[in-house]
Amino acid sequence: MITEPPAIAVKDVTLAFDDNVVQRDVTFDVRRGEIFVIMGASGCGKSTLLRSMIGLLRPAAGEVFYGGQALWDADDVQRSEAQRRLGILFQSGALWSSLTLAENIALPLSQYTRLKARDIARMVSLKLSLVGLGGFEEYYPAEISGGMKKRAGLARAIALDPDILFLDEPSAGLDPISSKRLDDLILELRAALGATVVMVTHELSSIFAIGDDSVFLDAETHTVIAQGDPKRLRADAADAKVRDFLNRGVMDAPGGRS
Ligand SMILES: Nc1ncnc2c1ncn2[C@@H]1O[C@H](COP(=O)(O)OP(=O)(O)OP(=O)(O)O)[C@@H](O)[C@H]1O
Ligand SMILES: [Mg+2]
Repeated sequence: MITEPPAIAVKDVTLAFDDNVVQRDVTFDVRRGEIFVIMGASGCGKSTLLRSMIGLLRPAAGEVFYGGQALWDADDVQRSEAQRRLGILFQSGALWSSLTLAENIALPLSQYTRLKARDIARMVSLKLSLVGLGGFEEYYPAEISGGMKKRAGLARAIALDPDILFLDEPSAGLDPISSKRLDDLILELRAALGATVVMVTHELSSIFAIGDDSVFLDAETHTVIAQGDPKRLRADAADAKVRDFLNRGVMDAPGGRS
């Protein structure tokens, strides 16, 4: 049987700022087409790991492979070619406040493609309609809600039809209904783009609704203490910290364990 290589392989990655080791020996595969969740307490290194996976922060040790190709042991041209295939929604969201939604989404298109202005405008409208923001081209970020900003950020992340979508806390600050809508949107975008999704989140509803696979980074030991399907880890994780994290709120929820 021929097994498909993973979309991403993270191998023995150590993340450090000078002497401060954030995580060590992080190893996992992300399979093509899955939604992979990075979990852990605040400050454990989730965003830092993401930055090392997208080519923004060189690991102190280890390597990240895309389809078998090393990301860090490559020249700048090869690395930026690999990065061109990635769509990213940063934790801060960071739309340019002085630009309209259309201008925000047009930025990566004018930077990385030779499309004419008219074709860029068409692509921008298509991406905005994919995230349910058709008709909002001329709005400024300050004129739309928090949930709409997240969706606009997603539209920008998918501007270049990425193979892999990286989302850092996409539903942070959203109410449960907007958060559920965002989950549905992530599933729709994965299907529309045929993409793989890597998502940092602590939102349990989201983790269980759309997460296929996961790693849990521990802030105290600075290592991965669990990995696998989060629905299974909820009951089976060897480390109580992981079970507690995944069973938060179960005690007080109606119908929860008592
Ligand atoms: N540029 C930097 N320089 C020095 N230390 C940093 C830098 N960025 C992050 N750190 C440190 O690395 C650790 C992990 O930070 P990181 O932002 O990755 O955490 P996180 O898991 O994403 O947290 P949160 O859930 O709050 O977003 C923290 O101790 C942080 O202080
Ligand atoms: Mg973070």
